[in-house]
Amino acid sequence: MIVTRPLAAAKKSLEDMGYLAVDVDPTLDLVEEINKLKKEKNAIILAHYYQESEIQDIADYIGDSLGLAQQAEKTDADIIVFAGVHFMAETAKMLNPSKKVLLPDLKAGCSLADSCPPHLFRKFKEKYPDHVVVSYINCTAELKTLTDICCTSSNALHVINSVPKDKGIIFAPDRNLGAYLQKKAGRDMILWNGACMVHEIFSAEKITKALVRHPNAELIAHPECEAHILAKAHFIGSTSQLLRYTHESEVQEFVVATESGIIHQMELKSPDKLFIPAPPNNTCACNDCPHMKRNTMEKLYLCMKYELPEIILEDWVIEKGVACISRMMEISAKAGL
Ligand code: 13P
Ligand code: SF4
Repeated sequence: MIVTRPLAAAKKSLEDMGYLAVDVDPTLDLVEEINKLKKEKNAIILAHYYQESEIQDIADYIGDSLGLAQQAEKTDADIIVFAGVHFMAETAKMLNPSKKVLLPDLKAGCSLADSCPPHLFRKFKEKYPDHVVVSYINCTAELKTLTDICCTSSNALHVINSVPKDKGIIFAPDRNLGAYLQKKAGRDMILWNGACMVHEIFSAEKITKALVRHPNAELIAHPECEAHILAKAHFIGSTSQLLRYTHESEVQEFVVATESGIIHQMELKSPDKLFIPAPPNNTCACNDCPHMKRNTMEKLYLCMKYELPEIILEDWVIEKGVACISRMMEISAKAGL
């Protein structure tokens, strides 16, 4: 037994801290232990591209928000271990409520989801009773209960285009993705004023300097970035679309304006190419998402060992909230995504 504190104490600290604060023997081979637990418990690890590289390397599936939701829906594993953030694990639970869904750190939240509190959104929505509500999947389970169709950055344009032209649309919570979609789809939408703290940190001036230093490089960007960054980008897409683009392109150098975790997969797929994280507008490593990076190999191991912390949702939230996700899944399947 490696744990140095009793489980009762660990569970208490779980309540206080959102994860199992149990000391893990530093000599333990975590990769071996996690792989053992996966087999023993018939568990699957789903990891987002923004996770630290060690977690990506041990995952059964690595993907963007849409890919992760699709995997969560179809898995026959008994336990889904979600190496990502809270809204992603909630989505997995809503799509597959009979499964146990674990998140290594319950405090792995999302600034974008937090920027749209459901009680305020409910009031906002009342002002536009005839509008269709499209919400980016980066929102709370409760916000999904107030939503007609969900979307991710991979399928957002298909979702917007599925709404009849004579219908107004409220788009929440990301004002940057919303503004980008308005332009792409050529229609006005009512935008909720939320944003992602990571994608709003990039400095246009420093990106220009990086492109001067690397004249053959292309800027690629996630649509959660601000309009003035997107205006400079050679290619805009979700994390999986950015990854595919860098692999298939003839170009050898890229300045990458999204969370830096994706660069691990870009380097694995295209080892001879150069990937430069887009510089933030200060000196810290702010293009690391502090929420995504709360998950560690130690927390992943403990959460699989003790099957905690678990995502628990009220039945009404699952029943009401899953409808907008299912609608999104249908639109994606129709579009071949
Ligand atoms: P995608 O991986 O779906 O592009 O989403 C990016 C993101 O910010 C997830 O939190
Ligand atoms: Fe949320 Fe932004 Fe972190 Fe994604 S990168 S989880 S949108 S805060």
